[in-house]
Amino acid sequence: MAGDRRFHWEYQEEPVERQAFRVTGGRPLRGRVRISGSKNAALKMLAAATLTSEPCRLTNVPEIEDVRAMAEVLRDLGAEVAHPAPNTYEVTAANVEWLFVPLEAAAKMRASFILLGPLLTRFGRVIISNPGGDRIGRRPVNLHVDAMRAMGANIEYRNGYYFARSEGRLRGTELAFPTVTVMGTENAVLAAVLAEGHTIIRPAAREPEVDDLIAMLQKMGAQVARTSPDVIEVEGRGRLHGAEHDVISDRIEAGTFVVAGAITGGDVTIEAAPCDFLGSFLDVVAEVGVAVACGRDTIEVRGTAPGAAQLRAHDVVTAPYPGLATDLQPPTAVLLTQATGTSAVHETIFEDRLEWLGELRKLGAEVEMVDEHCAAITGPSHLRGAEVEMGDLRAGASLILGALVAEGESVIHGAHHVRRGYEDIERKFLDLGAQIEHISEGLGTATR
Ligand code: EPZ
Repeated sequence: MAGDRRFHWEYQEEPVERQAFRVTGGRPLRGRVRISGSKNAALKMLAAATLTSEPCRLTNVPEIEDVRAMAEVLRDLGAEVAHPAPNTYEVTAANVEWLFVPLEAAAKMRASFILLGPLLTRFGRVIISNPGGDRIGRRPVNLHVDAMRAMGANIEYRNGYYFARSEGRLRGTELAFPTVTVMGTENAVLAAVLAEGHTIIRPAAREPEVDDLIAMLQKMGAQVARTSPDVIEVEGRGRLHGAEHDVISDRIEAGTFVVAGAITGGDVTIEAAPCDFLGSFLDVVAEVGVAVACGRDTIEVRGTAPGAAQLRAHDVVTAPYPGLATDLQPPTAVLLTQATGTSAVHETIFEDRLEWLGELRKLGAEVEMVDEHCAAITGPSHLRGAEVEMGDLRAGASLILGALVAEGESVIHGAHHVRRGYEDIERKFLDLGAQIEHISEGLGTATR
């Protein structure tokens, strides 16, 4: 069987098919759009399936590149990954014998590091590549590694790889993270569910995707619960079983479409919208003056014609959940370009996450960097079509937003970034009446 699989002993950056989006702005978006499953929940659940030899079935999984990459990593480990219908994945990790997560996987997708906890706790060892950084900053993994060490693992770092082992089962313990970390919390939970004894994690990240992962683990027989807003407790079990789980909707995608409706003067109904998880973002949107109405799982957005001077500037600060998500900072910044006055945008989570504003400026946005964590955006700006480059997926989707409100044609390079995390974004915008098409630019590297 090993002969059938491709192993990645030596790192070579794989060429990607580079595409650009050509967008002609100025059309109000109207109609209904359905939000897909959450990327940041689905990826962790695919990894969670390696905790058991029984099949796990996930529905509402977004059809995106990161999910395909995670499925490939799982297959390389020896797991069977079936994709029997769109948005459905079945993982059976009965024959995992290759406990190695290569640099290729980490280079494609930082979330591959989420395999540290489940593989180490179930199999007692794993060699896993350091995912390093990406275009939004350094992104260390020290807190994940420290958590595993605190649970008794022996972890050495050599040549870009973490060599992790545990003698017998990992041991439950009290974990105190010095800062809130989403994947760090998730890795600790995934390790603790098969560890011996009791684990307490504090502060535990409060993101809804963490709770959805907990819900899946409970279905697998894990004894894990959030016992107070920022505490998760786990009583380790000897084994877990298979389960079925429906992934929650993607709150970041929903927020992106809220801004699309708001700035184009459109009228958009967002279906399968996780309104309850968008509190801080919807507060900002309301403060800015956008008319939004939330139903049980819909959001209706009635936009303002660009330049109508009805939107008001508003200062925003990103923060861990329930604060304004850093992943919603880029769409929010685009919204603020259409508001009257100067808004401060403080990015507190990732160090380089305001860099993309340089591209937004090319569309005519008035952006001044106050310091590396804070930008001042003055509006309303009359945006004009331009040629811009996406650096990461959230910035990429937000450049599309900017182009939708800009006068004339924009070409946005690096469309593969958006395909990593947004299902069918082009079709969804087309269905709302946007003028958007993709242009193939041949093979290239992920960065250019
Ligand atoms: C998750 O990243 C998301 N990724 C990110 O979404 C999201 O932006 C981020 O959480 C914050 O909400 C996935 O879920 C796959 P963190 P994560 O650990 O878990 C520092 C997207 O676009 N830190 O909560 O990696 C870190 O540098 C992506 O979908 C350490 O210092 O983020 C940051 O400043 C981008 N050491 C802060 O903690 C560590 O070991 C919070 O990061 C880990 C983190």
